[in-house]
Amino acid sequence: MPRLDQLLARNLGQSRREVTRLLRRGAVAGPGGERLRDGRLAIATTQLPFEVEVSGVVLQLRLHVHLIQHKPVGVVTSRNDDRHPTAWGLLEGAPMHAELRAIGRLDLDAAGLLLWTTDTPQVHALTHPNRAVPRSYQVALARPWTPAPLGPTGSPELRLADGSRPRITELGPLLERDLHPALQPPPGTGALAQITLLDGAYHEVKRIFAALDSHVLLLVRVAHAGLWLPETLEAGAWRELTSLPGGGP
Ligand code: URA
Repeated sequence: MPRLDQLLARNLGQSRREVTRLLRRGAVAGPGGERLRDGRLAIATTQLPFEVEVSGVVLQLRLHVHLIQHKPVGVVTSRNDDRHPTAWGLLEGAPMHAELRAIGRLDLDAAGLLLWTTDTPQVHALTHPNRAVPRSYQVALARPWTPAPLGPTGSPELRLADGSRPRITELGPLLERDLHPALQPPPGTGALAQITLLDGAYHEVKRIFAALDSHVLLLVRVAHAGLWLPETLEAGAWRELTSLPGGGP
């Protein structure tokens, strides 16, 4: 069971020593208004989120934080970068910001759904190829693609230049009415497509369309593990999730 001082330290982004000082000063009150002074207090996971008041500000203490972000074009997924702004930087002010890890990556010139969590095993669970987690993308292409031959399951079968075989569960034309508002087709767009993959290899969508004699002009991830990018979530904005898709706590 997590202790009160651990939860406070993580949720406030402060050291255990600073939290001990806060508790000793009587700056922390429990859900019933009672002063909490003992950092060793065990909080059952069923009590989470645990409401406290710290120096008059109400705070919901959580064990983990999960976020959905609409990553814009022009920011890198990594947490630190010498040359470009980062998607992590756009999460400034989010709870447990320092602990947030991206669940998968999107290229600098790609946009769309990016999940973040402080629960690192969930990063693995939602990205490892063995878990076969579906990710869907809508893409603007320079020209129509050459259809790939279908395998026995009816899915397109393709071998990329590096010898890999992407697991494509859906590949088809994207109708205007199904176009996500996050995908604004740039000038020169000759075709629109939606593709769903069970892998997450480097530049995979771009390499697939290159292998099909086309070229990706713009790519937006619209879904991950069945979670759809909310149409009202503006580029650069994020929202907290109570749980991750796929059942993460
Ligand atoms: N495939 C790509 O080519 N780029 C991405 O950012 C994600 C998938």
